[in-house]
Amino acid sequence: MAMMVLVLSACGREDLSVLNPQGPVAQEQLGLIKLAVGIMSIVVVVVFALSLYVIVRFRRRRGDTSIPKQVEGSHKLEIIWTVIPVILLVILGVPTVQSVFSLSKDYTKDKDAVQVIVTAHQYWWEFEYPEYGIKTAQELIIPNNKTISVQAKSADVVHSFWVPSLAGKIDTNPGSNTNIIYFSAPKTGVYLGKCAELCGPSHGLMDFKVKSVDEASFDRWVAAIQEPVALPSDPAIAAAFESKCLSCHAVGDLGGPAYPNLTGIGDRSTVGGILVNTDEPKYSNEGSVYENMYRWIKDPEAIKPGNQMTGAYDLTEQELEGIAKYLSELKLNYEQ
Ligand code: CUA
Repeated sequence: MAMMVLVLSACGREDLSVLNPQGPVAQEQLGLIKLAVGIMSIVVVVVFALSLYVIVRFRRRRGDTSIPKQVEGSHKLEIIWTVIPVILLVILGVPTVQSVFSLSKDYTKDKDAVQVIVTAHQYWWEFEYPEYGIKTAQELIIPNNKTISVQAKSADVVHSFWVPSLAGKIDTNPGSNTNIIYFSAPKTGVYLGKCAELCGPSHGLMDFKVKSVDEASFDRWVAAIQEPVALPSDPAIAAAFESKCLSCHAVGDLGGPAYPNLTGIGDRSTVGGILVNTDEPKYSNEGSVYENMYRWIKDPEAIKPGNQMTGAYDLTEQELEGIAKYLSELKLNYEQ
């Protein structure tokens, strides 16, 4: 235990921790965790203390051959050790059941909530805003003053939608089953999300972000992402991009709807969900947007094994550089 505390305490991240809640849902869940851990700790301390006391106080002494007093069938003792656990379970159970019901509240018909349909794919996340006619991927942009109502499903296998700092996880199932969850993020910021269900070789790399912005920025984002997007200015790069990328992906109103929508991809904090667009050396996968885009398009299999993009196209070095440059500059200016 001591070794694990030493080694694992370095694993935490500020933007990925149920112990550092950033919204009311995660806050309530942390309250339950504290209650359960508190009760368990009291039980452990009391039981260990009693055991030690009994071992020391009532141990058989040298030369003592007497039989201790037998308490088998004692009504008093049996009532005590039945009633205490029942009381503890009531203390634990009442708030837990209350939270289970309050946290499963259905906001899918609520006009004041932002509706989002989350579809999990091997190994990326699709976010659809039906009220605005927007489909995007990997970064869920939300206004900080509204409740976010999520309807979660999967396009292939079972995944699980989890933003530790904001809300507990919900399974995304294939077929017609839809699970719901809601949360809000009153503080603006970027919160890391994870897939929490083993779904294939790149399960551990299936990250996404929830980005909470103020209302005005959100409105600007909604407008900006619906603007038409121009193709690369170089006709040769534009032709390659159209035939080799837009057969699956979309930018603006161009391209196919099936794969991650690339509109505004130059703005996202990562490429492929895990190559971090930053100069800060604290991440092992850091690089400029262009460098990360280039790495990803050149060999996606090396970055996310088992993804659907592997082997889907063939680009010359010139096309690769041109497309990486074009995509890294594809930004939506909505933050001020
Ligand atoms: Cu998707 Cu694990």
